[in-house]
Amino acid sequence: MDIRKEFLDFFEKKGHKVYPSSPLVPDDPSLLFTNAGMVQFKPIFTGEKPAPEPPRACSSQLCMRAGGKHNDLENVGYTNRHHTLFEMLGNFSFGDYFKEEAIAYAWEFVTEVLKLDKDRLWITIHESDDEAGKIWEKYVSKDRIVKMGDKDNFWQMGDTGPCGPCSEIHYDQGADKFNSPEDYLGGEGDRFLEIWNLVFMQYNRDEKGNLTPLPKPSIDTGMGLERITAIKEGVTSNYETSIFKPLINRVVEITGKEYFTDKRGASHRVIADHIRAVTFLLAQGVRFDREGRGYVLRRILRRGVRHGYMLGMKEPFMYKIVDTLVNQMGHQYPYLIEKKEAVKDAMKMEEERFFATIDKGMELFKEALAKTTGDIFSGEIAFKLYDTYGFPLDLTQDMLREVGKRVDIETFEKLMNEQKERARANWKGSGDKKINLKDLEKYGANKFVGYEKTSHKTKIKALFDEEFNEVKELNGSGWVMLEETPFYAESGGQIGDKGIIKCGDEICAKVVDTKKFDERNLSKVEDAKLKIGDEVEAIVDEMRREIAKHHSATHLLHAALRKVLGEHVTQAGSLVEANRLRFDFTHPKALTKEELDKIEEMVNNVIARGIKGEVAEMPIDEAKKLGAMALFGEKYGDIVRVVKFGDFSVELCGGIHVKNTAEIGSFYITKESGVSAGVRRIEAVAGLSAYKYAKGYRDLVEEIKAENKAKDIKTFIEKQKEEIKKLKEEIKTLQKAAVKEIKPIEKNGINFVIERIDNANLREIATDLKGKIDNLVAFLAGVNNGKVSIVAVSKIPEIKAGELIKEFAPIVGGKGGGKPDFAQGGGKDESKIDEMMNKVKEKFL
Ligand code: ALA
Repeated sequence: MDIRKEFLDFFEKKGHKVYPSSPLVPDDPSLLFTNAGMVQFKPIFTGEKPAPEPPRACSSQLCMRAGGKHNDLENVGYTNRHHTLFEMLGNFSFGDYFKEEAIAYAWEFVTEVLKLDKDRLWITIHESDDEAGKIWEKYVSKDRIVKMGDKDNFWQMGDTGPCGPCSEIHYDQGADKFNSPEDYLGGEGDRFLEIWNLVFMQYNRDEKGNLTPLPKPSIDTGMGLERITAIKEGVTSNYETSIFKPLINRVVEITGKEYFTDKRGASHRVIADHIRAVTFLLAQGVRFDREGRGYVLRRILRRGVRHGYMLGMKEPFMYKIVDTLVNQMGHQYPYLIEKKEAVKDAMKMEEERFFATIDKGMELFKEALAKTTGDIFSGEIAFKLYDTYGFPLDLTQDMLREVGKRVDIETFEKLMNEQKERARANWKGSGDKKINLKDLEKYGANKFVGYEKTSHKTKIKALFDEEFNEVKELNGSGWVMLEETPFYAESGGQIGDKGIIKCGDEICAKVVDTKKFDERNLSKVEDAKLKIGDEVEAIVDEMRREIAKHHSATHLLHAALRKVLGEHVTQAGSLVEANRLRFDFTHPKALTKEELDKIEEMVNNVIARGIKGEVAEMPIDEAKKLGAMALFGEKYGDIVRVVKFGDFSVELCGGIHVKNTAEIGSFYITKESGVSAGVRRIEAVAGLSAYKYAKGYRDLVEEIKAENKAKDIKTFIEKQKEEIKKLKEEIKTLQKAAVKEIKPIEKNGINFVIERIDNANLREIATDLKGKIDNLVAFLAGVNNGKVSIVAVSKIPEIKAGELIKEFAPIVGGKGGGKPDFAQGGGKDESKIDEMMNKVKEKFL
């Protein structure tokens, strides 16, 4: 049975619209990852956005429960039912139906479509929710409806956001299979499996923890696909299902280690679980990083690697499981197929990074563990494991849990905070105040007319001061919403437009930036004197033309990168300004000079050919047929804007572009660098900036020529090089001559050379002397490049060169050492060299 399909079909028939799974990285800063099916509908629940038509929805949503409020990471592998990534089937009502229908639908689906045994079903409700209890009594006997407190039956998305009491359907897998003390309804055991949670969304929780009623009571439900599959397939563990079995088998194949369904199989299960999370996150564009979501991704991968290590793996192996997963889930999530190779590359590289330090880290861990007498493991070592060997804290905690110990978390956090403080010293926030999107809704949308023109007569529709309070008149700084605006709002990497607003002949505001707030473009203004309703002329700054050149150049660069490096190149970030562009993309290694040259030349060729820029609006499927790539996680409407330069480049883009590539003038790559694992960055200039860039080089050359009275720079540099070579040789000859002059002083059969020689290569001189003089003891010192250097040589066993240095170098504030026959040292205080030499002479002569 294809449960996912049955579910969506069932609810579609009940008037629900089927929504695709939204990205794992939500459009919501309060959440680390999408952790429930309702996340994509949050603004609808809270009333920030109007309910769609029909006001009921259903979906099969990919969810991540790692790192955030709902965190199951540490349970994975040790229970039969926890996962980092899973699919949640859900139906939603936006102020449409409520408890009555939600319960009726759920019961019908569970008993008539899934045909679960009614005698095994139990219901929990919130202790205050008699209403839900009454409804349930229509379907199940009263003794099977159990009241529970907030902990079990009150659901909320995160620390803030929509929430409400809930009612859960549980499935009793039978006392014959489970009989641990935790195997009661609501216990931690696996016997009673929560299969479906019906949330009666009624409140929104704010930052202070206050609950305010939602505009309309709504429904949010969630049923874990993996759990329900286990029940339907008659197995007691998700890992035994057709979803996980192929992955477990692959782990067995790669590691050569048998799988056990009990404790001994934990590592297999962890790997089978984590490979799914890591693959989906990478395919959706998340990258390994030191913080935030990228760090959670790293933690999950490294935890998987550690379990592989326990199974005897010594080199990357997780990436070898990706194909199995893609075979299984690629039909439902086609982007997995598309991104497969790039995902494997990125994963393998990260595995390599961790395998490089895991041995040493494990050694340190074991040593420290052996020294741990109580049950608290050193916070300093945990921090060192984190900082030096790349062991995320939870990985160390995981290892400790296996032996019944835990980390001294206070010390760890103290060290961590100190490190963060150091990093934070250079960081400054943008300082922008937050605006309440709901307050803007009453103004409707304002049309963007900036594709066609750069100046436009219009009216002031709304004004806000700097704190985003609505005002009727604005004097000074604040935000303005025009009825129709030619100012482009920052998006798709292109920066917001600047310009001026004129009232008659006078400038009545300076536009310093423009940003998008849902469907509205608001411009940030300074020196404003504006009133709502004023008739004005909005004029976009001339620099817009240069922005367009850089934006089009970015598209050409993107296309050239794919042609030269391969189709795995995917945009990972972009910035388009008037005087530069920056483009981040996925690629496993640094670009070579040849690749960069080829890319730069290709872009300049397209510029020189003067290819027309065409912009068209069309349905997304048609755009994809043309070859336009949709970026994962970007929200596209049904109709998209396509920007095309001949056959060379086709992209979905809302930005401003040149009408012909010739306008770009020329294009130079100014820098190539790495951003994070598997992501490279190219910085480049186009248009006037390209001219300035080239001119900068020419001016530099001219300046060098003028200053040195050189005709051409290459010959000049060649000459300089030769000169330096000659001078070096001369120095050598002089040194040799000087060495010849050196006459050793004989004492007790030992030939002593104790000399100060400044600005010379003492090492060479000493080696020279060593070759020439028998029974030699030499002590040479001198100042060279502002530092004192000392060399000692001894051919006499009783006198050790290394010890001479150790004995005398401190006089010049230095140290050093070496072998008995040859040693070197350095010092800081050149005024003491003579004193040191005298001391040496006193000792021997
Ligand atoms: N949002 C609810 C949950 O995740 C359905 O359990």
